[in-house]
Amino acid sequence: MTTLGVNIDHIANVREARKTVEPDPVQFAFLAELGGADSITVHLREDRRHIQDRDVYLLRETIKTKLNLEMAATEEMLKIAKNILPNYVTLVPEKREEVTTEGGLDVKSNARYLKNFVENLRDLNIKVSAFIDPSVEQINYSKEMGFDFIELHTGKYAELTGDGQYRELQRIMESTHKANDLGLVVNAGHGLNYNNVKKIASINNINELNIGHSIVARALAVGLEKSVREMKSLITSN
Ligand code: PXP
Repeated sequence: MTTLGVNIDHIANVREARKTVEPDPVQFAFLAELGGADSITVHLREDRRHIQDRDVYLLRETIKTKLNLEMAATEEMLKIAKNILPNYVTLVPEKREEVTTEGGLDVKSNARYLKNFVENLRDLNIKVSAFIDPSVEQINYSKEMGFDFIELHTGKYAELTGDGQYRELQRIMESTHKANDLGLVVNAGHGLNYNNVKKIASINNINELNIGHSIVARALAVGLEKSVREMKSLITSN
């Protein structure tokens, strides 16, 4: 059965917009687990634009499911991962100017460095995943680099419609089967929402879907009325 990893970076985005203490992603991880999340994903970016070091350390102590730490393959992040010992590390490309992770990791052109990096993490019993585009070449290199998992980038699928989306779905399906044949566990994510998730979830042997933006957006939609009602009640009960 396909499981759900909930990415809570956007909770931290709201907090960091005010540089205050709420909403606290650690508290919301608890609620995500209550709702059925099978793992909690956070991306600790080099520029710390949303998730902070403190969040990751606290999550390691408090979550009951699994912690998936998304990070760039840098020496700074390796040190943090060694201290935190997340269940999974997902290596992603990172650009300072991007709004979100735009493309997959180029496993091929960083091969020697990545192989060593992956080995370092695997020695600590951390499972390592590569966030890659659905391409046979990237899958083959991921296998060679020693990754346990891959996460297929579904951003293009999410952006396209009609025939284009159908073709991208086929690519994701074929990539999943190819990776499975090589013994890689396959996750997928990016841009998945309440309208487009079903077709991806119905692909055989997708292990986990990582979803953030649409879940947090939906939380506002289903929760705002209640939060306004509570504030109104405080004001009017004076
Ligand atoms: N997987 C990876 C590797 C990501 O970088 C992101 C975005 O942070 C996601 C999944 C979740 O994407 P979205 O927020 O669009 O659901």
